[in-house]
Amino acid sequence: MTAHRIGPSTARLEHRALSVDDAEAFFALNSHPDVMRFTGEPPLQSLNEATEALAAYPDFETVGYGRWGCVLKATNEIIGFCGLKYLDDLDAVDVGFRFLPECWGKGYASEAGAASIAFGFDVLRLKRIIALVLPENGASIRVLEKIGMHRQGEFEYDGLTALRYEINSSDR
Ligand SMILES: CC(C)(COP(=O)(O)OP(=O)(O)OC[C@H]1O[C@@H](n2cnc3c(N)ncnc32)[C@H](O)[C@@H]1OP(=O)(O)O)[C@@H](O)C(=O)NCCC(=O)NCCS
Repeated sequence: MTAHRIGPSTARLEHRALSVDDAEAFFALNSHPDVMRFTGEPPLQSLNEATEALAAYPDFETVGYGRWGCVLKATNEIIGFCGLKYLDDLDAVDVGFRFLPECWGKGYASEAGAASIAFGFDVLRLKRIIALVLPENGASIRVLEKIGMHRQGEFEYDGLTALRYEINSSDR
């Protein structure tokens, strides 16, 4: 199995797997209350917690792909993450994205999300990619629509009611 630790390059972003060396950027993103508000996850509390989460991230080794860090080509800074995650309990592959608030509204999530979907279909040969989003997360819903995903109804996940979006390889 190939571990796709390097993801697609887009107009403004590189995608690569994060390591413990990226703990500060990962902590800045995942401790920010505005970023975490609609994710269903608690904000990270410490740099140490971020380091441990990165050290324990198994996806690239276990399924060959995962969420990549999004590196802004212009500055070489990590401004978010985006990528695919295999959800064991649903036997489905989910696209997800998260960016620093100062970077919102510039099209980065749409750029990264579209690239992740193309990677899933063209490289991984997936048939379907899903996304789970809370109904109150208007920006995320808008991104999912912009990258061609369709709403498939509501879904109970992690004790929350989420909307399920899908795109099939045949939709493109
Ligand atoms: C969701 C998120 C990734 C979007 O990132 P982004 O780079 O700003 O996204 P884009 O710029 O590509 O597109 C955002 C779109 O949402 C729209 N938007 C922003 N806030 C909105 C809102 N409250 N309701 C509806 N649409 C909204 C923008 O106008 C834009 O659409 P447009 O291009 O048609 O004008 C970012 O807000 C984020 O990191 N949120 C916190 C983490 C998160 O919730 N992730 C998703 C979990 S499912």
